Amino acid sequence: MQIQSKQPHIGTTIFTVMSQLANQYQALNLSQGFPNFDCSPQLTALVHLYMQKGMNQYAPLAGVLPLREIIAEKTEDLYGVKYHPETEITVVSGATEALYAAITALVDTNDEVILFEPCYDSYEPSIRLNGGKPIFVTLTPDNQYKIDWQVVKSKISAKTKLIVLNTPHNPTGTTLSADDLEQLAMLVKDTNICIVSDEVYEHIIFDGRQHYSPICHPVLQERTLVCGSFGKTFHVTGWKVGYCLAPKALSEEFRKVHQWLTFSTVTPIQYALADFLKDKSNYLSLSMFYQQKRDKFIDCIKNARFSFTPAEGSFFQCVNYQNITDENDYDLAKRLTKEIGVASIPISVFYHGKNDYKMLRFCFAKDDHTLEMAGERLSKL
Ligand SMILES: Cc1ncc(COP(=O)(O)O)c(C=O)c1O
Repeated sequence: MQIQSKQPHIGTTIFTVMSQLANQYQALNLSQGFPNFDCSPQLTALVHLYMQKGMNQYAPLAGVLPLREIIAEKTEDLYGVKYHPETEITVVSGATEALYAAITALVDTNDEVILFEPCYDSYEPSIRLNGGKPIFVTLTPDNQYKIDWQVVKSKISAKTKLIVLNTPHNPTGTTLSADDLEQLAMLVKDTNICIVSDEVYEHIIFDGRQHYSPICHPVLQERTLVCGSFGKTFHVTGWKVGYCLAPKALSEEFRKVHQWLTFSTVTPIQYALADFLKDKSNYLSLSMFYQQKRDKFIDCIKNARFSFTPAEGSFFQCVNYQNITDENDYDLAKRLTKEIGVASIPISVFYHGKNDYKMLRFCFAKDDHTLEMAGERLSKL
């Protein structure tokens, strides 16, 4: 029997490769984006409570109502935009599901989708599996990964169905500004182009910056599906609970796909999150918490010969290592894991053409001791 692969060019993801290598060489794992510290004991106690209360059967397709209600309240508080919990908020099994469902709901054969690269690895395959064509806008470190909206304009065609945004951004740690949203709005205002906005790092934004979601702009709000996740916000990446915010008509299309993907999401965790979200400090304190981690990491690598711009958000710091070696980033990331015991992610893997700008990504969602040890080892380079 011969299997005709639908994704012949997809291998094991770099995150698995680097994490396995980190385990094999007992390296400090600053590669994959997850915290090495635990979530609040209050949150696990709430999950336990709801399991004991018998909340163990299927949740409704759209998610349990108390969770949707509190997401609506939080979104209105923070961004001044109302989403109806019954019809415009859907709880899903992680942002990865939200992204796949949103793309599948909208993208048909030969539709074009604009992606800003470097980008999170699930976007391109999700588009291709639906017969769509990614159209890349390439952002580079020379330009601090900022978007040139004239270039975006030149990539828009009659076939453009969707534009995928990600702010704060993985892997570069950049954020979109109000001006970015304004420029995007001018480009799409008389079109049927929709926006998928990946905002999993919404609460991890530094130096007093504000999170600008496209939903803050009326022209963009009506065409945007926001993909959010509780994994990054509450240090529970393994729970895989996220959500999609979208106007009613888009949410209807989104739910049609969600029902065939997972149908519904783990019940007791949804109830626990609904309670935990009532205390706003549980998410409003996160930027400060991670800003301290970013600053700690930057301080720990001050003697390493890297050059970098401090991350504006997310839990990733990208660094340029040109002063140290001219090896390509993939080989260097592997060598550093094996030889000095610090695992990172080469930025080239986030470009479809594997562009090598001599950049590595380090995840600083780690306890201070790990960051200090990583800094010591990297400073010897
Ligand atoms: C930009 C971005 N989007 C989506 C995800 C996936 O989120 P989830 O774990 O909720 O599926 C990640 C996780 O690393 C991410 O960095």
